[in-house]
Amino acid sequence: MIICIGAGPGDTGYLTCRGAELIQQADVVAGFDAVVNVVETFIPDAAEVVLMNYRDQTEKLERVAKAHHAGKKCVIVFMGDIHFSGFQYLERVERACGHPVETLPGISSAQILASRAKVCFDETTFITFHRRGDLEPFKRHLVNVLNDQRNAIVIPCPWDAARSFMPRHIAAYLIEQGVSSIHPTEVWENLTGNEAEWKGNLLECSELDFSDMSIMLIRCIDQMPSQIEPANQQ
Ligand SMILES: C[S@@+](CC[C@H](N)C(=O)[O-])C[C@H]1O[C@@H](n2cnc3c(N)ncnc32)[C@H](O)[C@@H]1O
Repeated sequence: MIICIGAGPGDTGYLTCRGAELIQQADVVAGFDAVVNVVETFIPDAAEVVLMNYRDQTEKLERVAKAHHAGKKCVIVFMGDIHFSGFQYLERVERACGHPVETLPGISSAQILASRAKVCFDETTFITFHRRGDLEPFKRHLVNVLNDQRNAIVIPCPWDAARSFMPRHIAAYLIEQGVSSIHPTEVWENLTGNEAEWKGNLLECSELDFSDMSIMLIRCIDQMPSQIEPANQQ
């Protein structure tokens, strides 16, 4: 048996009861170091722990797939929720196993951001740049989202200089594409951990650096909190 579990945004208070239960019953618990650390207290002493990183993930996932095919109960932990910026990793898991695998949702950093920033997901589009492959279609989509008067929750790309697309680059790109520089913008770092919050506009954001563990909210101009009537704020 093998299942992919969303470990939540970092604080174990946000790991689901079902996720904790599956980890406690596992023979093998696998994932990236930082995510396995989050669920460490739930891992049974007898379980095998398979830690991986970007370089060795294919080889390590093959090891987990082998354990799964040998009848072991295997759990692979994902940061936040698998269904938010987690599908490329899920595809690697499924490739290693040779078949589709079950997923258990967790709480995403995007959901924590929505709660902290009081933004309605129905009126918001989630976009991630934390992915391999061509980012251009996703960049264009972000421009369209803002031009369509929707909010955007954006996960930046923290990789090497050639691909890096962090909040300052995202803001500069949007302004370059003709998006208004006064869009209210927020960047939240280390949600549910040592949190930091920044609020300003796109122009100000284009001049600032944030850590890899950051997530961005760009509000549509029509929904600036100051423009919401108190009677509508429920
Ligand atoms: C590959 S994406 C995975 C997102 C994850 N599946 C989720 O649902 O939150 C990893 C990126 O998500 C963002 N992220 C994840 N957890 C976060 C947190 N607790 N606070 C702020 N950003 C976070 C960071 O930008 C990080 O580099």
